[in-house]
Amino acid sequence: MNLLITGGAGFIGSHVVRLFVKNYPNYHIYNLDLLTYAGNLENLKDIENQPNYTFIQGDIANEGFINGLFEKHKFERIIHLAAESHVDRSINDPLAFVKTNIMGTVILLNAFKMLWLDNYTDKLFYHISTDEVYGSLGDSGFFTEDTSYDPNSPYSASKAGSDHFVRAYGETYGLPYIITNCSNNYGPNQFPEKLIPLFINNIIHNKPLPVYGDGNYTRDWLFVIDHARAIDIAFHEGKLGETYNIGGFNEWKNIDLVKLLCAQMDIELQREKGTSEKLITFVKDRPGHDLRYAIDPSKIKNELGWTPSLTFEEGLEKTIRWYLDNEEWLNNVTSGDYQNYYQKQYN
Ligand code: NAD
Ligand code: TYD
Repeated sequence: MNLLITGGAGFIGSHVVRLFVKNYPNYHIYNLDLLTYAGNLENLKDIENQPNYTFIQGDIANEGFINGLFEKHKFERIIHLAAESHVDRSINDPLAFVKTNIMGTVILLNAFKMLWLDNYTDKLFYHISTDEVYGSLGDSGFFTEDTSYDPNSPYSASKAGSDHFVRAYGETYGLPYIITNCSNNYGPNQFPEKLIPLFINNIIHNKPLPVYGDGNYTRDWLFVIDHARAIDIAFHEGKLGETYNIGGFNEWKNIDLVKLLCAQMDIELQREKGTSEKLITFVKDRPGHDLRYAIDPSKIKNELGWTPSLTFEEGLEKTIRWYLDNEEWLNNVTSGDYQNYYQKQYN
């Protein structure tokens, strides 16, 4: 099987590529990634020479290039992760999100449709999405697969748009698809602009921890390798035309999470208890900040038998250890442009 994985040099994509390259020697995995600031081939050093793996650098929003690539490699299945993925960046530059997340997805859908025409036996377009498309919850309730879309940020609006196009290609052209909507991921290789790796990096360097607003915002956190496992199961066992929500059964208010992270970092860095917490600084809130995300993952649990394998404390410990053991990775990605982004966002 020729399997195309888009965005495979990014955070979640690199874990998905590794899992498929290692577990499925009969598949040839093509990793297509533009290598934006978020893409990093260092993430895949350990598998880059495997015979069933090929890396291709390119833009999913470049129609001519994508059509040519599909014609050449005849991809039978696709796992589509490539995206602009950071809410704060989407607030500063929404068009980049429309281009990659909406245009890029439609260009891939079209190329897939033109390649196979109506001959879709054993073919699959698997689209990776987010729980943020459902908008914001109050203090109670959960997102299910039937929750109406109600996105609030340019990021979530662009992901919602891409989900709608995938479903529309299914309804209109019979294109075989699966969509999964996952909660917040954390773990090794996450770019340090998202909450957990940003705060780990700042604690290492004794820099302030910028908590938006009062910190009483809730997210549902899942260890990235558990997300990759869920993708493996949905890819092989999921029903065509279905959506599955993936969540960690693991809600945390930001401020409580940050305090737990600080406590674990003090232990790992052998600093006096309470040292890292002193770095917490409340800063101006994110515009349109969603109050709470929480997933009801009953469908994927009951129908496909997936559950997370780690507790949050275990996952966080592994994550902290990874960042401390991979200082060079962290230094490489936080040099250059990262400093400009940081200045603009936080000063
Ligand atoms: P990421 O930003 O770490 O990685 C995105 C990857 O896509 C990068 O390697 C980047 O180079 C590549 N890319 C960006 N634009 C491209 C383009 N035009 N053409 C080709 N490649 C391009 O993101 P992530 O956190 O790994 O998220 C991956 C997917 O999972 C995204 O679709 C995201 O919406 C979704 N998702 C993420 C989370 C999360 O918590 N991180 C949760 C749910 C769903
Ligand atoms: P983030 O990791 O950006 O993911 P998302 O916005 O997709 O949920 O942010 C997680 C939560 O942490 C969110 O409520 C915003 C908050 N946050 C801060 O308080 N400070 C920060 O510097 C960042 C990056 C996020």
